[in-house]
Amino acid sequence: MSLPRQPEDRVGLLISFEGVDGSGKTTQARRLAEVLRQAGRPVVLTREPGGTPLGEQFRRILLQPPPPPAASLTPRAELFLYLADRAQHWQEVVEPALQSRQVVISDRFIDSTLAYQGVARGFGIETLIEVHQKLGLLRWPDCTILLDVDPRLGLQRKRRQAQAAGPAAPLAEWSRFEREDAAFHQAVAEGYRRLADMFPGRIVVVPADADPDTVFQRVQAALRQKFPWLLP
Ligand SMILES: Nc1ncnc2c1ncn2[C@@H]1O[C@H](COP(=O)(O)OP(=O)(O)OP(=O)(O)O)[C@@H](O)[C@H]1O
Ligand SMILES: [Mg+2]
Repeated sequence: MSLPRQPEDRVGLLISFEGVDGSGKTTQARRLAEVLRQAGRPVVLTREPGGTPLGEQFRRILLQPPPPPAASLTPRAELFLYLADRAQHWQEVVEPALQSRQVVISDRFIDSTLAYQGVARGFGIETLIEVHQKLGLLRWPDCTILLDVDPRLGLQRKRRQAQAAGPAAPLAEWSRFEREDAAFHQAVAEGYRRLADMFPGRIVVVPADADPDTVFQRVQAALRQKFPWLLP
């Protein structure tokens, strides 16, 4: 199938998927990458934390709780590791892909830091935007799909996923964030709602409590509206 060409003035397109744990980011990001690839568009599917070999090491430190007696990451150390990961990811993966006019789909990006560290950890959204700016790290996605589910449903999905993965201590796979209490997850959700209000032109809120096919229809409809040339 031949697709309309990307407008000439564009250097690639950066689309991020955001939402609370278990909201369906990885599922939907993969589906979008698949549809675009099948239609012949060059796509880079990537993620934060991670997306580079170094970033995958940051990811392990960030998401896997260390075995006792090691102390867990302090909130500042956590924040700085996310920034380190983003700096590496931008320079090594995202920027070169955008320069070569590819569509970059990132499973989490800056809004995760703003919601988790900015709101739930309390550093403040504005403060963290300023930090990104001062460090030369402030790059907004062209479009952010915010998958909106109640955090309790997200965690239920993760629990089901862990149980399906096998009886051998499935909760050992639980990330540091999934182990946080309900108030933390509600604060993350509240953070995302505030971001959606702050950036209505960039963030599209997609209700994501339906089955994956229905959610993907909504994702595609949202993207078609913003970028009529993008999808088949
Ligand atoms: N719309 C949906 N309805 C029901 N289950 C879903 C839906 N979307 C994804 N799932 C399932 O829920 C689990 C979590 O989905 P997924 O990994 O895509 O979420 P995520 O947002 O990437 O989570 P995390 O924040 O942990 O990375 C998976 O087992 C997935 O198959
Ligand atoms: Mg995921």
